[in-house]
Amino acid sequence: MLIKNSILLYYLILNKKYMKHDANWIKQPINHNNLFKSYEDKYGINSDFSKWQEIIFADKDVRDNLSKALNAIDLDQGNVLDIGINNALEIGAMKDLKGLINWDNIKITGIDLSRTALKIAKNNLKDIKHELLFGNILEFSGQDIDSDQKISLADNHFDACFAITSLQSTGIYNDNFTSFANNLIKKMKNKSYFLVMVPNCYIENRQLKEGGAFNAERQAPDKDFAPNFVKKFGLILQNNNYKVESFGDKFLFILAKRYAKK
Ligand SMILES: C[S@@+](CC[C@H](N)C(=O)[O-])C[C@H]1O[C@@H](n2cnc3c(N)ncnc32)[C@H](O)[C@@H]1O
Repeated sequence: MLIKNSILLYYLILNKKYMKHDANWIKQPINHNNLFKSYEDKYGINSDFSKWQEIIFADKDVRDNLSKALNAIDLDQGNVLDIGINNALEIGAMKDLKGLINWDNIKITGIDLSRTALKIAKNNLKDIKHELLFGNILEFSGQDIDSDQKISLADNHFDACFAITSLQSTGIYNDNFTSFANNLIKKMKNKSYFLVMVPNCYIENRQLKEGGAFNAERQAPDKDFAPNFVKKFGLILQNNNYKVESFGDKFLFILAKRYAKK
């Protein structure tokens, strides 16, 4: 009886949280002629996306799957590229979940198109070595928000790449995705990891809808998008000698490891 009541209470609290904020960002299409402003409006600090992030990273399924991945990413030191790092809330969530990453010896290079979110990331990352680049990952370079210098991502440099609900973004996932992904893999060391999370749910009328992501260009949910994305990127990784695992439901995860010589 006690267990049943606790579960009920847990769901009520979770649903209440889900119902508290609008989720207009989901329906906001990206204007590719004004990419920076468009992403700033959609994901910057004044967006309703920022209110939902905490809810997403508190979700039990997300935490369990992230935890599973973090127990497989064995990194005692090295360089991590975080694509679409936004305000770096995900790094805090990952640190909380423990796992095998020694965060004291890691340097994070975070890149994003929202300058306001990167400023918050700076504060959220004060205990971890980092550089934050304002720029488009498709160019593999960005402006360091501290020094204003243009920094280009070096080849064969990163031990891990995190892309937490970012790679599927229309600013990245376009007709040239395969060539972009192959160039991205060139930035990785021989032994390296990818951790990718792709939304397979959306929020409508403050309710979480599962089994599909919302396509803001078509203004409709698309149940095939996330599985197709995972399949496509998974194959590219396999062709580059990564061992690929995928799991998850509300959010699909790709965990890829490569140990073999290229
Ligand atoms: C859905 S948000 C995810 C943010 C964060 N990773 C999280 O899970 O809370 C996607 C992020 O990717 C960034 N982004 C989208 N396209 C990008 C691009 N071409 N280059 C760099 N960042 C990009 C957006 O600005 C946004 O902050």
